[in-house]
Order: sequence, then C-alpha cells, then structure tokens
Amino acid sequence: MTNVPRKAAMGICGLVVISYVLFAQNTPAAQTQTAVPQKAILATTPPMGWNSWNHFHRNITDAIVRAQADAMVSSGMRDAGYIYVNIDDTWEGERDTQGIIHSNEKFPDMKALADYVHGKGLKLGIYSSPGDKTCAKFEGSLNHEEQDARTYAEWGIDYLKYDLCGLREPMKNAATPEAAHQMMVDAYIKMRDALRNTGRPIVYSLCQYGNDAVWRWGASVGGNLWRTTGDITDSYAKMAEIGFSQAGLSQYAGPGHWNDPDMLEVGNGKMKPDEYRTHVSLWAILAAPLLAGNDLTTMTPETIALLTNREVIAIDQDPAGKQGDRLTAEGPLEIWAKPLADGSKAIGLFNRHPQPARMRVDFRQIGFSGRVRVRDVWEAKDLGRLDNYETLVPGHGVVLLKVTK
Ligand code: GLA
Repeated sequence: MTNVPRKAAMGICGLVVISYVLFAQNTPAAQTQTAVPQKAILATTPPMGWNSWNHFHRNITDAIVRAQADAMVSSGMRDAGYIYVNIDDTWEGERDTQGIIHSNEKFPDMKALADYVHGKGLKLGIYSSPGDKTCAKFEGSLNHEEQDARTYAEWGIDYLKYDLCGLREPMKNAATPEAAHQMMVDAYIKMRDALRNTGRPIVYSLCQYGNDAVWRWGASVGGNLWRTTGDITDSYAKMAEIGFSQAGLSQYAGPGHWNDPDMLEVGNGKMKPDEYRTHVSLWAILAAPLLAGNDLTTMTPETIALLTNREVIAIDQDPAGKQGDRLTAEGPLEIWAKPLADGSKAIGLFNRHPQPARMRVDFRQIGFSGRVRVRDVWEAKDLGRLDNYETLVPGHGVVLLKVTK
C-alpha cells in the first residue's frame, strides 16, 4: 500500500499551519469571521456549471462557448442544475484610450455572447486577475477594477473568477509577509466593492490557490467561493491529493461562501471510471462547486451519467450547505460523511489503494442509534435497515451511501 498521497497532504497542511501562524493574528479579516457576501446572497448552494480551462486552455473561442452552452442544454446538464458557462483566461484584448478593456479577436462581441447564453437559461462567467497580467499573460485588472466591473456588468456577466497570478510579483517585493498578505486582501476587497457598485449580482470566485489559509478570510473579502489548492490535472494522483486534502475545512463553508477544490476533470479521458466516480462523489461530499471541465459536445453516455446523477447532485446541493469531512482514515481507506438537511447523511467509503479492499462502516460511529435505512447511491439501490455495512470497494474507487434514520 502506498502512503505517498498522505505525505503530500501532510506537506500542504504544514504550509497552511505556517501561513496561519504568520497571518491569523494580524489580518482584519481574521478578526471578522462573519461572511459578508454580496447583498442578495449569491451562490446559496455551490455554483454549478462549466469552465473552459481544463479542456480548452488557451484555445477557447466564442464559437466554442456557444457550442458548450448548446450542449449543456441538449445533454440535460442544465436541467440537472449546471447553469454557469465560464470563460477562463485568454479572452482579454487591449484597453482603449479610455482604459476600457475589450475582448480579443476570439470573442468579437461579448455582449452578444452573453445574450446568447442567457437566451438558453444559462449564465455567463468571465476571468481576470488583480495584477497587471493574468496567468496566461493577458491584460489584468490592476488599477482598472471599477472600470472592468462596469464593463462586465454592461456585457451581462454573472460570475467572475479573479486569479491572483499577476499580483504575485509585487507581493514578493512587499516589505514583510504581512504586508504582502494585506496587498492581496486589499486587491480582493477592491474588486468586491467594484462588483457591488455595479448593482449586478456577480458571483465572486477567488483564485489564489489556498494561500494564507484563505478559507479563514475568503468570505470576509466578499468571496462566494475560493480555491483551496493549486491546479487540478486529469490524473487520479492529483485529483486525490487535492480532494482528500480538504479534511478539516468543513467549518468554513456554507451558503454563499464555499471552499473550491478546483474544477472537474470528469470526461477528459485520463482517469478510469472508478476514479472519476471518486472525483464526483468526493466533490459532492465536500459541497464543492461542480464546474465541469470537459468538452460537453463530445460526452459519452457514461460521462453524462456521472455528471448528471440526480442523487449525487442533491448531496452536493443540499440546502443545509454543510460541507462533509473525514471521519476515519485507516491507511488509504477513508470514510467521509456529509450531514444533510433532512437529518440523513451521505457517507463515502473511499479506497485510495489501487487494489480493491473490504471496508466496513458502523452507523453508531456516525451518530445513529439502532438500525438505519441505507441506500447505495450510484447503484440506486436500497440496502435495507442495517446497523453496519461491509462491502468491497474497488481500487481508487468509492461506495457512496445515503443513510437515513
Ligand atoms: C491559473 C488558475 C487556473 C486557470 C489558469 C489560467 O493557473 O489556477 O484555474 O485559470 O490560471 O491562466
């Protein structure tokens, strides 16, 4: 049995602890733990939709976005709850003499695109950076925050992913780590205020890879969601490293403000079916945003089934908005639980080892007394009234249960 992913996770935890010791005492945000999302609460459940980056990277165009919106409807994803169609980096063109940002030749008319997407009952998202440049070295929003927010609102944008990238250089030159932290917090507050000033509800997604324990202060700078880790890739090792490293973060998520372990890789082709099932199940237990990252126009029936399983989506989107957390870890065998609004719980039996393993859960351990109703969610099968359950979990796989009193 391998313990490499656990070591990696411990490394990340170590960094987080150091960051917290450095910053927790000093930030105004840390003193105000109350969530201050935008006026009308946005993202009352974790945002669902699609984002261009994981599959298309720099090759995203207006035509591709329209085709994804079409496919989101025809595949049934919209009706399953996927609403946001999010353009990631590389849409940005030049600023004009007034400083107003324009989209580049790949996006000839952003307002027309927004109208098209809205016409399908969907919403449109966009991407920028608080630095002068984005991660892909396109135009960022530094010193143009109010102007850019107004432009987005005029176009009809509904979601902004705001990626730290270009601000990292200036942060390196700050006099102290605390000053660098403050620079980042101020930059996120600046765009929060600019978005609010437009009067348009725009979901605000912070992307700064989990630095400085962002879950402790992300809501206080207006974040409706904040990335908690570096970038995901279409590999079991990276997905598992990111997903399972979310242990302990559940207390920071809730309606209007969510931890974001990054977008989905389901359907991009490099993971096995059991691994993609683990990906979706873990993200649902984490109440994570479900932003598909594949090409929606070429999905197999299996990919559609993974992304649109109503019972799994209901776990992710449960109205109580409670993120699940790890209950036990026995080497690579982890049991996670998410409390649901009706008093039931979603339980994930995850086997991180490549070979199948037997796993057992005693429902008394998770706060139930006596026998409980148990349902295998992916199999869509009621298992009866039980006080414990033992089953074979595939390598890198999961058995997802819903347990009701
Ligand atoms: C960073 C983000 C990614 C993506 C790229 C775009 O790496 O974490 O999600 O937005 O930038 O350049």
